[in-house]
Amino acid sequence: MQPVQIKPGVYWVGAIDWDLRYFHGYVTPRGTTYNAYLIVDDKVTLVDTVKHYKGDEMLERISNVCDPSSIDYIVANHVEMDHSGSLPQMMEVAPNAKVITSPRGKDGLVHHHGEYNYQVVKSGDEVSLGDRTLTFVHTPMVHWPDSMVTYIGEERLLLPNDAFGQHVASHERFDDEIGWDLLHEEAAKYYANIVLPFGLQVKKALDALADLPIDMIAPSHGVVWRQFLPELLEVYPRWANHETDQRALIVYDTMWESTTQLALALQRGLEEAGVPVTVRTLQNSHMSEIMTDVLTSRALLIGTPTLNNGMLPTVAGFLNYLKGLKPQKRLGLAFGSYGWSGQGAGEVHEFIESMGWEAPIDFINVKYRPTDDQLQEATAAGRKMGEALSLQKN
Ligand code: FEO
Repeated sequence: MQPVQIKPGVYWVGAIDWDLRYFHGYVTPRGTTYNAYLIVDDKVTLVDTVKHYKGDEMLERISNVCDPSSIDYIVANHVEMDHSGSLPQMMEVAPNAKVITSPRGKDGLVHHHGEYNYQVVKSGDEVSLGDRTLTFVHTPMVHWPDSMVTYIGEERLLLPNDAFGQHVASHERFDDEIGWDLLHEEAAKYYANIVLPFGLQVKKALDALADLPIDMIAPSHGVVWRQFLPELLEVYPRWANHETDQRALIVYDTMWESTTQLALALQRGLEEAGVPVTVRTLQNSHMSEIMTDVLTSRALLIGTPTLNNGMLPTVAGFLNYLKGLKPQKRLGLAFGSYGWSGQGAGEVHEFIESMGWEAPIDFINVKYRPTDDQLQEATAAGRKMGEALSLQKN
């Protein structure tokens, strides 16, 4: 297991989790990496560690650069266990190392791993390593309250932990070795599923970092950004501002295809209004994959039949996930079908209102099978949604 030098004297010494397919509710078909970075200076420093079962891989990579017991500092930018899980193993190998972390970081690390020789840093604090100086900037809620980033001015290098990550397992360590299209998709999926609720905090973090000269961003998941920084720094503020495209997403589940017929009629109407549409069923697409479409779609049309006096459990689960991720500035429309009691579509409508999204037209709820007239009405509703969408600007 070899390290990869990303800057003179700065090495990636992380681990590749090729087979990871599930990450607290998020499906990761491309696996992921846990990135740790080793800085060889007068003070040898490890920035972050890896998930607990990958500690040996990290140690092997470190050992190909230096004696791991010579590490003076371990920076813990973030407590979550995919980054601090191997800290106990590292502390056994390098028992004299100081653990540098934020105040909330120390609290979380003590709860997870116990007492070490902690050095707590405030936002803006600096630690000299010799030729290089580490600067720490707190970025609470990107991703947990403890989160901070580490900046090395001499190298123009930002180590932002979770921010700017992508769940991609690869031999390649740099963005230009993979290409923008795939990384953009994975960075968007990552943002939509992990960072989306924290737009305000992301904006604050981006403001705090705006004046720092940066020519490389080395996150804690996926590849290191060095070529596509302009593209990345263009999309992140858009995502943080909940800016979307003039496109629609239809998400639904169905029992006997009546809700499917409504979904297709709505699609027809949106297309007639010139709006690009994506259609996903919750039977066949995982909700974490649908979130990538949610990130960029301004209109969200959500459909369900009624089952047991309510919406289908798949739709309820998706809405619960959406509630936590808090997409804003959307247009919403609920639709569905029922046999007798008919509460499902109304519950989705109530959800749309609770999210503060605009609902330019009333929800659609059809008994048993939609008639031709009802399908034409649904197509007209799709057109109206499309026209309402076309009037909107960011
Ligand atoms: Fe990659 Fe919040 O952990």
